[in-house]
Amino acid sequence: MGKTIIIVGGQWGDEGKGAIIDFLAEKADVVARFAGGNNAGHTVCVGNEVYKFHLIPSGIIHKKLNIIGNGTVIDPEVLVSEIEGLEKRGFTIDSSNLVLSSSAHIITADQISEDQATGARIGTTGRGIGPCYKDKIARRGKRVADFIKENNKEAKKLRPLVKETYLIINEAIDSGKKVLIEGAQGALLDIDHGTYPFVTSSNPTTGGACTGLGIGPTKISNSIGIFKAYITRVGGGPFTTELGTEQQTKSEESLSELKSKLSKDGFEHLYRKIIHQANQSDEYSEGRLLRIQGGEYGTTTGRPRRTGWFDAVAAKYSIMINGLSSIVITKLDVLSNLRKLKICTHYEIDGKKTGRFPLNLEELKKAKPVYIEMDGWDEDLTKITEFKKLPEKARKYLEKIEEILKTKISILKIGPKRNQTIVVDNKFLF
Ligand code: GDP
Ligand code: IMO
Ligand code: MG
Repeated sequence: MGKTIIIVGGQWGDEGKGAIIDFLAEKADVVARFAGGNNAGHTVCVGNEVYKFHLIPSGIIHKKLNIIGNGTVIDPEVLVSEIEGLEKRGFTIDSSNLVLSSSAHIITADQISEDQATGARIGTTGRGIGPCYKDKIARRGKRVADFIKENNKEAKKLRPLVKETYLIINEAIDSGKKVLIEGAQGALLDIDHGTYPFVTSSNPTTGGACTGLGIGPTKISNSIGIFKAYITRVGGGPFTTELGTEQQTKSEESLSELKSKLSKDGFEHLYRKIIHQANQSDEYSEGRLLRIQGGEYGTTTGRPRRTGWFDAVAAKYSIMINGLSSIVITKLDVLSNLRKLKICTHYEIDGKKTGRFPLNLEELKKAKPVYIEMDGWDEDLTKITEFKKLPEKARKYLEKIEEILKTKISILKIGPKRNQTIVVDNKFLF
């Protein structure tokens, strides 16, 4: 049997799944998406080229076989424009490198309107995701197999790519191929396990990979979770380690708006001021610094992302419900310039310290973070090529995370590009 590795987001999404999938896809034969739709935005940076994928798996650049599984929801216009975007950049897209499950569901214009009219309470992406899954469960959805019978541009374009993908993926695994399964969203956005109702409408956790592709759990070799060295969230909902308030973040302009408003010197001055204030323990400035240094503005909607310290209570929960054998830490470079870093080891709820992640929303809203403090570093990490060459304080920060989570780090990312990836432990990979 081949090797099948599931990669999932361990937090509230945007952990850098696209970048890690692209890195690992070099050694894979097949890359498959199993849930979500174009609420996802996965960024891949290779040299000076930047690709933003919403539906197409991030293995497409390597010209591997990419599968969009039955558990996904498809906006045909978005998929076709993504295919055409790649074709304009010189890629040939056909059924040798992209196939789409005939059982995936189609997002309709009515579902998008419904999401836009009702999604504000949750802060959805407005892409029709929730209404589409709702109609799927109510057994009145439209599937890809029905859509491609229609006589329109999108149906014609997608028709040759539509297959019964369960067969393709199982045959690949059975014939010894290496299969990489690409999660979208993150564990804390899971409809069953996330911070309900502030969640998405699918199962982005590892269990969803089996149902969303039609493969059995005995065929999974390994599950790896991606975590940022801190944590972010877009949209509403409780966020225990948040720095500053949701309102403060929401009222900010995007980075490009800020940069276009200020001169180069003006921006540099503001940036220095934010670093200074962050190091005076001003929480909002700490969060804003992470936002600016991490480019934390949504790939799909451009919204400023809420930022906070690494939440080990949530991470342990995510490791448990996903059954993760190792973790990837991304964006370690973003923590530079902070004199002190915090890791949340416990929550305090009604005066009691707990390591349990509460599923009850009222309880979670009351949770206060209990932190340990670690020394930060000023060095730029983006050119480092080996774990042992990291500043000692950065190594200690990672070792502390491993110790608290009792889980090994397999890969570390210190920048957005493919070559800014450090393999720490090969044992969990292809
Ligand atoms: P995904 O949804 O999990 O694929 O993540 P996104 O692409 O939405 O967001 C992650 C962002 O961080 C993207 O802009 C990536 O290019 C960028 N990124 C990924 N890894 C790193 C890293 O280690 N350092 C920095 N600075 N940026 C990274
Ligand atoms: P990737 O794959 C971050 C969030 C939305 C909102 C909630 C519900 O790029 O990590 P939805 O439109 O799914 O009904 O919105 O889920 N959300 C994401 N946040 N990254 C994502 O995907 C997300 N997909 C959905 O912001 O809070
Ligand atoms: Mg994203």
